[in-house]
Amino acid sequence: DSNAPISVDPFRTVAREMKFLTKNIRQLLGSGHPTLDTVAKYYTQSEGKYVRPMLVLLMSRATALTPKLRRETSTYSVNRPITSSEILTDDNPSAPDHSLTSIAHDAAYNQEESDILPSQRRLAEITELIHTASLLHDDVIDHSQSRRSAPSANIEFGNKMAVLAGDFLLGRASVALARLRDPEVTELLATVIANLVEGEFMQLKNTARDERNPVWTEDTVSYYLQKTYLKSASLISKSCRAAAILGQNTPEVVEAAYLYGKNLGLAFQLVDDMLDYTISGEELGKPAGADLELGLATAPLLFAWKDNKSLGRLVGRKFSGEGDVQRAREIVSESTGLEQTRALAQEYVDKAIQAISGFPESDAKDGLIEMCTKVMKRRK
Ligand code: FPP
Ligand code: MG
Ligand code: MG
Repeated sequence: DSNAPISVDPFRTVAREMKFLTKNIRQLLGSGHPTLDTVAKYYTQSEGKYVRPMLVLLMSRATALTPKLRRETSTYSVNRPITSSEILTDDNPSAPDHSLTSIAHDAAYNQEESDILPSQRRLAEITELIHTASLLHDDVIDHSQSRRSAPSANIEFGNKMAVLAGDFLLGRASVALARLRDPEVTELLATVIANLVEGEFMQLKNTARDERNPVWTEDTVSYYLQKTYLKSASLISKSCRAAAILGQNTPEVVEAAYLYGKNLGLAFQLVDDMLDYTISGEELGKPAGADLELGLATAPLLFAWKDNKSLGRLVGRKFSGEGDVQRAREIVSESTGLEQTRALAQEYVDKAIQAISGFPESDAKDGLIEMCTKVMKRRK
């Protein structure tokens, strides 16, 4: 019953862990170059929502009591084919780095009575690093002015430093990942980085064929959903999967964790796309209505387009014509696009909850369910 009161605050369930998160992340980002140090740590000053690390910690805790696997039965194989989107480097990962203390010797990773493993806590930090790196790059691509109610890094430090800081975060995330000494988890998070770029590339075009006067088809929505998976749900789903793997869980539990993250991630972005139409910039902490201005056709508009074919021309020219943005906004508001977006998000949230229904009852499981409710209720 979705109307039943839920008393668990997901943040409180893992609050003790979260306290160390920002501190540890800042430690991972130390650089001997004072300017790089400042730029790299810039987005750690303003409190983010920490959705991804919170999900990793909750998933770690929720799968702590599920049946465990013996390591040798892992299905991971080094001979798995590598897709063209995966990048291999020959850097030496063993070079010493004082800023990356071993998690085994760090007090913050060895709290007593915790059912979260040090490696899972580190994974939570890695997900936030990758996310923050993508934001640094995203703000350059989107010509953003503000993020988290402050000037965005590209404005504060310029494009060059923002891009390099993002690269630096990815580098440090990769080192921390390698130190987990779990090749399957490394592969998952490396794939996420490639997926983020693939999603961002798909977003550069509103439709697969990128015509001047595109016609609405069912493919229009599946293209959007694929892009949304890559850009938003990949990090959440694969990091939930990685958390379950680090906890030595069975393939069934690992898959359930992944499905939870995938469906929640899709819902999360659908709601994000909806808020861009419905919430003021002041409340969002970043400019509202930005998607149309950037030429992006997201779910509310795609659903409106199905019933109002005149939107095709506007989509084709990325709302660059005189009055296009205003016209598109009107058509969306007169359509059921926003309701359909919300309904689809709710479907995904229901699937996310269904995915973990077999997990043993725990506060953490309640927290994962509460995250779903929060995603649907959120206003920023
Ligand atoms: C925010 O989206 C951006 C992302 C979720 C991913 C962006 C990915 C890249 C820029 C590719 C490079 C990736 C890495 C890992 C360096 P948004 O612009 O819709 O949201 P916003 O309103 O918060 O800016
Ligand atoms: Mg952006
Ligand atoms: Mg963007």
